[in-house]
Amino acid sequence: MARSVLTEVENRARSLDLAGVKTVAREGQPARPIVEYAKEHDVDLIVLGSRGLGDIGGMLLGSVSHKVGSLSECSCLTAK
Ligand SMILES: Nc1ncnc2c1ncn2[C@@H]1O[C@H](COP(=O)(O)OP(=O)(O)OP(=O)(O)O)[C@@H](O)[C@H]1O
Ligand SMILES: [Mg+2]
Repeated sequence: MARSVLTEVENRARSLDLAGVKTVAREGQPARPIVEYAKEHDVDLIVLGSRGLGDIGGMLLGSVSHKVGSLSECSCLTAK
């Protein structure tokens, strides 16, 4: 499933002429692997959406974006 989502992302990036897009799949609850990857790769900025698949049209940040913002050592940008 991850592979098929990431293939779609790669195809979309290619259709927008975005160079250097790389996708990675990791196992686990989403927030920790995202934060660990950022730390291991000296990432400057993590960009997330404000809502994901659990969208109920709420006003609050989803729990993944909230956890990543709390756990990460680098800056995070939440796109609305
Ligand atoms: N499994 C995941 N892999 C990669 N990024 C994710 C994953 N889940 C969430 N995200 C990122 O976090 C953003 C917010 O999703 P989040 O899960 O926090 O919101 P939600 O689904 O509305 O809330 P909740 O999951 O708490 O019900 C997504 O737009 C995406 O950028
Ligand atoms: Mg979610």
